[in-house]
Amino acid sequence: MVELLPSILSADFAHLADEVKAAEAGGGTVIHFDVMDGHFVPNLTIGTPVLASLRKVTSLPIDCHMMIENPDDFIESFADAGADWMSVHYEACRHLHRTLEHIAQHGMRPGVVVNPATEVDLLIPILGMVHHVLVMSVNPGFGGQSFIPYSLKKIRRLTELRSELGCGFRIEVDGGVAHDTIAQVVEAGADLLVAGSAVFADGRAEQNARELLQLAQMAAAE
Ligand code: DX5
Ligand code: ZN
Repeated sequence: MVELLPSILSADFAHLADEVKAAEAGGGTVIHFDVMDGHFVPNLTIGTPVLASLRKVTSLPIDCHMMIENPDDFIESFADAGADWMSVHYEACRHLHRTLEHIAQHGMRPGVVVNPATEVDLLIPILGMVHHVLVMSVNPGFGGQSFIPYSLKKIRRLTELRSELGCGFRIEVDGGVAHDTIAQVVEAGADLLVAGSAVFADGRAEQNARELLQLAQMAAAE
């Protein structure tokens, strides 16, 4: 089943509860929450205070995309603040296997993320441990960038690995997913579709979410 994950990075933070409600009304089923530290990526965003507030206004699962150095240091506090899924970067984790174990031990669904320059075959040893693999289809740090086409090859390769290895992970894609790219992403095999600016940039979150989901569902049905 394809699902739309509105990324609140492009939402109006002064009206976050309303923005999330609108995206949910349009069919968003998981909230994508981008955490940046100014080191792993050249930008700063939000952390546990915003997460705890958001937790009070939505019952949707919250997927925390950790674009930070030393994500291990934040596993406990994010679990306490209400995170449901935690996605950590392959490039940021010195002991990825242990980090994924810790995330699961704290009751969250573990996910691994790969940057555009990282091949997915590097993930083979841990694919049996993750709930989802997140393919970055832009370089992380900012919303509103253009989709990198090579990502489609990585999504296809993940679908092969999933059947070769008999794993059950889902395939998430993040970056440049919009009206003109969402169908190809679904056709390649992704089923968790993150969209930030395509949902929130113009103040029409509900309608945008509905349109994106419809395009994704049509591509999935073909
Ligand atoms: C970028 C973030 C994304 C961002 C995507 O580093 O991880 O989640 O919100 O934004 P769009 O959908 O505008 O490319
Ligand atoms: Zn993200």
